[in-house]
Amino acid sequence: MPGLFISFEGIDGAGKSTHIGALAAAFKTQGRAVTLTREPGGTPLAETLRTLVLNDPMDALTEALLMFAARRDHLVGVIMPALARGDVVLCDRFTDATFAYQGGGRGFDETVLTQLERMVQGRADSVNGRLIQPELTVWFDLAPEEAAKRLAGARVPDKFESQPVEFFRRVADGYARRLMGDAGRFARIDGGQTQQAVWHDVHAVFVAKGWLA
Ligand code: TYD
Repeated sequence: MPGLFISFEGIDGAGKSTHIGALAAAFKTQGRAVTLTREPGGTPLAETLRTLVLNDPMDALTEALLMFAARRDHLVGVIMPALARGDVVLCDRFTDATFAYQGGGRGFDETVLTQLERMVQGRADSVNGRLIQPELTVWFDLAPEEAAKRLAGARVPDKFESQPVEFFRRVADGYARRLMGDAGRFARIDGGQTQQAVWHDVHAVFVAKGWLA
């Protein structure tokens, strides 16, 4: 079976983690090998970069470069080999997060992000310049005010989680712009529902694709 690359996105507190775990279990039940991974991170080098980028202050270009450096290492070291083996790759965040957080949230130049995306996700064997992108991106869309309520007191916030609600409004707008630019790749899930209703919607997307029974 060919590999399947799926990413999961949303602002902090949108509640994607439990559903990614449930999907991994559902695919395994059907006999598929699953690679469960995350960004920034997923390799020893990229996890080191994650610790730096989520904790140390730095300028917006440095932050964007480190996100894409981590992504390159992750793609080459984990994602591409897993897809070549035929695994289902479930990736907690990918490049849409860079456009949403660094582009939308921080206001960093999206034309530069587009150049970095081409550099990092270009394929040597591509004839039409197509980039390596997830086949499906599940976007958990939740109002920033609601996400802030859920996060309050839940844990010690990192550099992004401690941002004000206006930051997350810009991040959400960034996700919406990415969806508009590539609507066929996205499934938007209403993250404001109960966890059970969210799971129902997520599962239905995978059934409709023919990937889960
Ligand atoms: P997150 O995925 O929410 O993990 P956890 O559930 O462990 O907190 O944390 C990753 C953070 O990194 C999140 O705040 C979004 C941010 N981020 C970016 O700013 N740019 C990126 O390109 C990626 C992948 C993540």
